[in-house]
Amino acid sequence: MKILITAGPTYERIDPVRFIGNYSSGKMGFAIAEACTASGHEVTLVSGPVRLEVSHPSIRRIDVESAAEMYEAVLSRWPEMDGAVLCAAVADFTPVNVAAEKIKREGDNLILELKPTRDIAAAVGAAKREGQFLVGFALETNDEEAHALEKMRRKNLDFIVLNSLKDKGACFGYDTNKITVLMGAGERIAFPLKPKTEVARDIVDLINRIRK
Ligand code: C5P
Repeated sequence: MKILITAGPTYERIDPVRFIGNYSSGKMGFAIAEACTASGHEVTLVSGPVRLEVSHPSIRRIDVESAAEMYEAVLSRWPEMDGAVLCAAVADFTPVNVAAEKIKREGDNLILELKPTRDIAAAVGAAKREGQFLVGFALETNDEEAHALEKMRRKNLDFIVLNSLKDKGACFGYDTNKITVLMGAGERIAFPLKPKTEVARDIVDLINRIRK
């Protein structure tokens, strides 16, 4: 299958030297890209700014910086894909104006006006046709499963991978992750803490299972 994967954070520019970002390392998305390739799939990896290399030469990597660039890179390629795994930690807000010059320190507080970004997963889900699959991620700090289920339905996902900030050794920056997968059909699968490479294989096994 042709599978599109998003990974890493996005950077939203404030001025020529500053941005709003987040702590996503991209490790989970890159591990999924490698596991999909190892499983025989053709991977396009759309990555935000990360300090990672792909080891498999057949992975087509597209580097983007902002949420808007990631949106264009993903939506323009979605029609030709069999499915997507949206793992990126996309900014929810971006500055209304990007200052042309470096913003100077002045006496008063600085107020940045932010506007919402477009939801890539929701747009891909809305454009999903028969036979395409869509997997999303959810990082929640409270009422994890209820919020994840709501996202899965709203974004038209086949399943959602939930990681909680409450779990030690899971999530941003770590080489391990602890996930719970909520399937569209109502199934719930809780996995133990393990290396992201193994978590990636579990996710690819589930993709191969829903596409049989
Ligand atoms: O930010 P949220 O918790 O809603 O993200 C859940 C899922 O939606 C993740 O898979 C994430 O990659 C995706 N998402 C996206 N575009 C956004 C926000 C989130 O693709 N602007």
